[in-house]
Amino acid sequence: MKSRAAILFEPGKKLEIREVTVQDPGPGEVRVKLVASGVCHTDLHVMTGDLNAPLPAILGHEGAGIVHDVGPGVTSVKPGDHVILLWRLSCGECEYCSGSRPALCPEGTEVRGSGRLLDGTSRFSLDGQEIKHFAGVSAFSNYTVLPEKAALKIPDDLPLELAALMGCAVITGVGAAVNAAQVKPGSTVAVFGAGGIGVNVVQGAVLAGARTVIAVDRFDSRLEQARLFGATHTVNASDSDAVEAIRHLTGGRGVDYAFEAVGLPSIVQQAFNCLAKRGVAMVVGIPPTASEVTVSSSALVYEERVLTGSLYGSAAPKIDIPKMIDMYRSGGLKLDELLTHRFPIEEINEAYDALKSGETLRSVVTF
Ligand code: CU
Repeated sequence: MKSRAAILFEPGKKLEIREVTVQDPGPGEVRVKLVASGVCHTDLHVMTGDLNAPLPAILGHEGAGIVHDVGPGVTSVKPGDHVILLWRLSCGECEYCSGSRPALCPEGTEVRGSGRLLDGTSRFSLDGQEIKHFAGVSAFSNYTVLPEKAALKIPDDLPLELAALMGCAVITGVGAAVNAAQVKPGSTVAVFGAGGIGVNVVQGAVLAGARTVIAVDRFDSRLEQARLFGATHTVNASDSDAVEAIRHLTGGRGVDYAFEAVGLPSIVQQAFNCLAKRGVAMVVGIPPTASEVTVSSSALVYEERVLTGSLYGSAAPKIDIPKMIDMYRSGGLKLDELLTHRFPIEEINEAYDALKSGETLRSVVTF
C-alpha cells in the first residue's frame, strides 16, 4: 500500500514528504491509518542531530488513528478500532515490564536502536530503498505498521487529535510528576520549559497537590499557558537568572522538586541548583546523546539532593492512559488547552518552525 510520509534523510535537513510503500502487517502486527500526530521536540532533536536515530526514517511518535487491517494472530484490536500508538515497545514479561516500568523494556530499546521491528526488518520502503521506523511508531505517515502490543485501543468518541497528545506529552509530563517524582501535597515545584511536556508536568504537580508551582521559559506566551495549567508563579529565563528567581520566590529555601523539560545539560544544572535540601531534580527532556552534566557532589551528601530522570512518565501506558482519559472526561485533566495548532502533513516543516519559535504549545499534523 502507498502512503504519504515525512522522511528525514539526514540530520540538518528538512523533512521530505514522499510516497512510500507500506507492507502488509505480519504476524502479531497491525496497520494503522493515522488521523493526527503530535509535533514533539524529540523528533526535532533527531532532525538537528542532537539525538541519534537510524536514518532515513519516517519520524513521528505521538500518534493516534484507526486500525486499518491486522496480521495473523492479532487479538487485542480489530479493523475500525481507535488506537493510541505507544512509542516504547514492551514485552509485558521482563523485569521492567513486571515492575511497572515498561518503557525500560529491552524490546523497546532494541526497536528504538535499530529502526526496525523485532524481526529485524522494516515495513517501509521508497523506490526499493529501506526506510526505517522511528521509535517503533513512525507516526508522520498516513499509514504505519507496528506490533499489536504498541497499539492501545481507546473509546471511539475521544477526539483522535487529543488522544494523540496523551501518547507522549501528557503521559510523559503528568507521569514525571505523579509516578516518577511522586510530588507530595503541599510541596514546592519548579518546571523548566513550559512546552507540551512542561505544562503537563505543571498539571501533574497541581494534581498531586503541590502548593507552589513555578514555571520557567523564555517565551511569555508559554508562561501564560503554564498558568492555565496551574502554575502559581512564572519566571522568564531571558530576563532573569532562573535559579536566583526561584530561590527568591521560595524565601531562599529552594524547591522540593525541579523538573527539566527542555533537554539541555545547562538547564539540568539549573534544576539541580534551585533545589532545597532533600530536593529532587528530575530530567524529563531528552538531552543530546553524548552530553554530560556536572553538579556539586557535596550537595548530594550534605543536602541529600537527588538527580534522576524519567522516561515516558515512568508510566504503564496501558493502565495510565485509560485513567487519564477518565480524568479528562470528568474535568480533572486539561487536554483541549494543550492543542493550540493544526497543520496538514504537507506543512510539517512549518509546524516545527512554529514549535521552535514558541508560537505553538502543542500542534498536530493531520492527514
Ligand atoms: Cu514526544
